Amino acid sequence: MITVTYIISGRTTLEYHRMLVDYSCNRTVVRKTRHHSQFQLFIKMEIKSVLIVDGVGPVCADTLTSHGISVTTKPKITKEELLKEIPKHNALVVRSATQVTEEVLAAAKNLNVVGRAGAGVDNIDVNAAGKKNIMVINAPGANAMSACELTCGLILALARHVVPAATSLKAGRWDRALYTGTEVNNRTLAVLGLGRVGREVAVRMRSFGMKVIGFDPYVTSEQCQEFGATKVELSEVWPQADYITLHMPLIDSTRSFINKEVLNSCKKGVKIVNVGRGGLIHEPDFLEALKEGKVGAAALDVFEEEPPKNPLTLEIIQHPAVVATPHLGASTKEAQVRVGQEIAEQLVNLVKPGTYKTPLAAVKPSN
Ligand SMILES: NC(=O)c1ccc[n+]([C@@H]2O[C@H](COP(=O)([O-])OP(=O)(O)OC[C@H]3O[C@@H](n4cnc5c(N)ncnc54)[C@H](O)[C@@H]3O)[C@@H](O)[C@H]2O)c1
Repeated sequence: MITVTYIISGRTTLEYHRMLVDYSCNRTVVRKTRHHSQFQLFIKMEIKSVLIVDGVGPVCADTLTSHGISVTTKPKITKEELLKEIPKHNALVVRSATQVTEEVLAAAKNLNVVGRAGAGVDNIDVNAAGKKNIMVINAPGANAMSACELTCGLILALARHVVPAATSLKAGRWDRALYTGTEVNNRTLAVLGLGRVGREVAVRMRSFGMKVIGFDPYVTSEQCQEFGATKVELSEVWPQADYITLHMPLIDSTRSFINKEVLNSCKKGVKIVNVGRGGLIHEPDFLEALKEGKVGAAALDVFEEEPPKNPLTLEIIQHPAVVATPHLGASTKEAQVRVGQEIAEQLVNLVKPGTYKTPLAAVKPSN
């Protein structure tokens, strides 16, 4: 029996609930309460010793040790060393370099939780962990502000042709007339997906005088109003939006969300920003709309395939109306520090429930 109490709270409460029912198979769910719209679950777990690998910032270790949790830090660890070291620990914290494979998990005799200091868990065998009742947690909120700020910067960059104008000047031209822009003030911005990133974008672009409309099936009109957005139906988004920014997860229902039918319903020349996930845009339809001028400009940080090799994606990137960045949404110094902090806070909460407000971000196995 694992013996530490944990509090979980968050917006996607039903999902957490289902997940923790899964996880609770050999842990004890102590209490479930509803507080406002948040769900709280208390489960038991033990974390005495944490192994931190992969150059996770020192704030992670500092936070854990300040709460009396023993920490071993090995910024670079070989697979052999990891296999030898892992049985001594109850928790493992990784970034993206260390592969937490079935073999590693099999050797982890005392492991209760793997923390990914970041969002993606591609380097962790979540299903193998699930079978061993090892919880996998990540830090999805830690990069929200960074992704938001990149989005806002890209919206402004599109409005004022910052990237092509700067490139043109560096090439020795002085094309002032060519790069006359538009103000964002009084333009309509549609924010699709009003989660951690989307709502921060809404707040910031409101302060630029944009009319912000939003769509998110799980966010109410009242919640939208809190961050200055008006909730509308999807059918109302397309004819109104001057700018569309995508902030949903890539799941079956959102794959190819921006497709030919949608693009045909948009205002001619609509500007589209994607700092969400590549698959949200159907790239062949998108390229066609760019060529026809239906999409007037686009800023893309994420692509169907990364790094992009598909000639069609490369043609989109090369299109003069496109500003493309290599998945930089989370790439800030602050986000890198915050991911370690957020994982440490979740681990401390597992030991000392309610110490931090940071909600548990457990990743559910897919089978
Ligand atoms: N480019 C980057 O480096 C970067 C950085 C951070 C996040 N992201 C991505 O940005 C997206 C948003 O991240 P987040 O942290 O805000 O996630 P989040 O889970 O907090 O928010 C996602 C929101 O999308 C909503 N949603 C689900 N289905 C929807 C649908 N069909 N239509 C509209 N909304 C829908 C959810 O209800 C939720 O509110 C994710 O895809 C994430 O992976 C990218």
